[in-house]
Amino acid sequence: MSEIRAGVEAARDLDDLYAVFAEGRLTAGWHKKRPSLWREPRTEFRPNRWRYADAAAAMDKAGEWMSTEDAERRNLLMFNPVGDNDYDTVRTIVTAYQMIQPGEYARSHRHTANAMRLILDGEEGVYTVVDGVKLPMRPGDFLLTPNWAWHSHYNEGTAKAYWIDFLDVPLVHRLEPMFAENLAAVHQTVEAEPDPETCPLVFTRARVVAEMAGQPVRPGGGRRLVLPTQGHVPTLSVTYVELPAGASDAAGRSTASRIFAATSGAGVARLGDGAFDWTRGDVFCLPSWHDFEIRATSDALLVEVSDEPTLRLLGFLREEPLVR
Ligand SMILES: [Fe+2]
Repeated sequence: MSEIRAGVEAARDLDDLYAVFAEGRLTAGWHKKRPSLWREPRTEFRPNRWRYADAAAAMDKAGEWMSTEDAERRNLLMFNPVGDNDYDTVRTIVTAYQMIQPGEYARSHRHTANAMRLILDGEEGVYTVVDGVKLPMRPGDFLLTPNWAWHSHYNEGTAKAYWIDFLDVPLVHRLEPMFAENLAAVHQTVEAEPDPETCPLVFTRARVVAEMAGQPVRPGGGRRLVLPTQGHVPTLSVTYVELPAGASDAAGRSTASRIFAATSGAGVARLGDGAFDWTRGDVFCLPSWHDFEIRATSDALLVEVSDEPTLRLLGFLREEPLVR
């Protein structure tokens, strides 16, 4: 007779049985410590806002003491202030500011997590190489680094370069298909240098602004443009939001989580119960099941990165109309 079976036979009441269950790595469904179902989403993640000016100053300071080797991934992760979390920005996405000084590079590596970048500042000579394709990183550009694509970054200009990384690493952590490796040769061979205006891995600010002009004006006075990124990064969506001064963009609660980054302009945002102001380069996050309203106080262009495609594919996307 197994030990579990012997314990069951010897039990004189339910409490005795619970001890036996625990020994057998079993939980009684009628006696569990925590509920497993609830009426509606109840994320512990909170809306938050991060200042580009603060992050840039902090990375500049760190750069005084860091070696070029350490500088390879000189970034500041924007973590959600929940529990002991020090990585995830929202449940499925992590966002970071990154800075590379003139003459520095980030060696080539690849990983199953998808990455995307919004370039904030830099001069000519800043570029990334994605699977042998050399792509310039100019302020306002949005670049894709798909799952398992080799990528390395270079600053051959004379000024520091700053950008924002968006990755689905927290989603990969939860589903567990993480693979990552460095390129032994450190640098990739550049095999192509396409026109960034037509390359599917780059969305220049000029291209976004031109295509935005063809979008309809929405209630609130702004426009939205969804970038065609799904064929390269299927887990996340990328939407640009154009808000002339005084215009607003709003939505009700959704099971999707969102991260916003301001590429230009300034304004205020109500995110659930939280109120934040923002300006160029700032990032703010909207965890799932929070409504929001963003208002521009000067002409603004924002990027919204969302896990909506993942929720939709799995049949978990639910949205509510905004209750004003
Ligand atoms: Fe990477």
